[in-house]
Amino acid sequence: MIYFDNSSTTMPKKEVQEAINEYALTLYGNPSSLHRLGIDSEKMILLAKREISEIINSDSNEIIFTSGGTESNNLAVIGTAMRNKNNGMHLVTTEFEHASILNAFKYLENQGFEITYIKPDKDGIVNLENVKKAIREDTILVSIMHVNNEIGSIQDIDEIGNYIKKIKKEIYFHVDAVQSFGKLKIDVKQAKIDLLSISAHKIHGYKGIGALYIRKNTRINPLFFGGQQEKGIRPGTENLLGIISFLKAAQLVKKDQKTNFDEVKKIKEIMVEGIKTIENIKFNALNNSIPYILNVSFKGLKGEVLLHALEQRGLFVSTGSACNSKKKIHSHVLEAIELEEKYLDGTIRFSFSSLNTEDEANRAVAIIHESMSFLNRIMRRS
Ligand SMILES: Cc1ncc(COP(=O)(O)O)c(C=O)c1O
Repeated sequence: MIYFDNSSTTMPKKEVQEAINEYALTLYGNPSSLHRLGIDSEKMILLAKREISEIINSDSNEIIFTSGGTESNNLAVIGTAMRNKNNGMHLVTTEFEHASILNAFKYLENQGFEITYIKPDKDGIVNLENVKKAIREDTILVSIMHVNNEIGSIQDIDEIGNYIKKIKKEIYFHVDAVQSFGKLKIDVKQAKIDLLSISAHKIHGYKGIGALYIRKNTRINPLFFGGQQEKGIRPGTENLLGIISFLKAAQLVKKDQKTNFDEVKKIKEIMVEGIKTIENIKFNALNNSIPYILNVSFKGLKGEVLLHALEQRGLFVSTGSACNSKKKIHSHVLEAIELEEKYLDGTIRFSFSSLNTEDEANRAVAIIHESMSFLNRIMRRS
């Protein structure tokens, strides 16, 4: 079995599971309790915050834990918009954000906010010129993803963040870094980022645990109401085992980020070299994308059909678009980069992790060729 669907989620690493096994039956105290068991749990949370904050160059008290990237994105966008609406009702984002951003903005639109959606270019890049054009006198928040989860294109968040703050330092800058955390360098101070969303299960931690970096003095409303955990911004007893998994996964990426990057880059190169000879294919955003994601369109094929042909041969991937038998729904990302109609249905995302090997990449290439020959034979017959 070859698992090339790591942008959907990753397998927890052995070290992560070992950390969970070590603490699951001992570190059960409520972090809010005043006794020793509570204090031990609280210490673990502080350690995890320190580890995460060092990766993004923030202070550890600027990190709060959430249930994942989706919640972090909702809290960042809705929480700041609602709290700061007296300063303006205009918000800026892009057309190809993750659903947890786009649907949060849709909600805000229904609450009376005005949203400008920036269109990325054909390579999946958000041009600074378009950010400049989008910002208005009454803009209070700009939210732009670091790495796109379907095509892997990378935005220059340093340039965008510094530009925004030069215009008006009161405009909040949020970055969805779910696909880049632990993979690309992130420096929230250098990029002048106010809020940054991350998630553990994309870096071999557990599902259902994420974090939001909130720069000191950021005015934000909570989405849930309860106790004083996480300064009242995210109340509820903390997901301690999830946090331990995040801590361990963060320690591992901090240590191995460069080696992982180089190894995964080689895997992507093998894939590109191996399949570029296939007729009628198109690599999307190839030159501007993270090594962890390779997005390929196969003209005239249905992505789902190819996905299952690959699966039958042991290769697990994602489609770039979700198709419904009654109503065709194309990927909003591929539509945003204006991928030609003939490619829209047949897009596959291969996504890699440091647990993958070059041998797997070579085997995957063979499987793709074999599946394509098989599907071409069937299509010719029918
Ligand atoms: C770019 C991006 N943002 C947000 C999310 C949501 O993260 P989570 O699955 O932790 O809710 C994902 C998950 O696929 C993602 O890729």
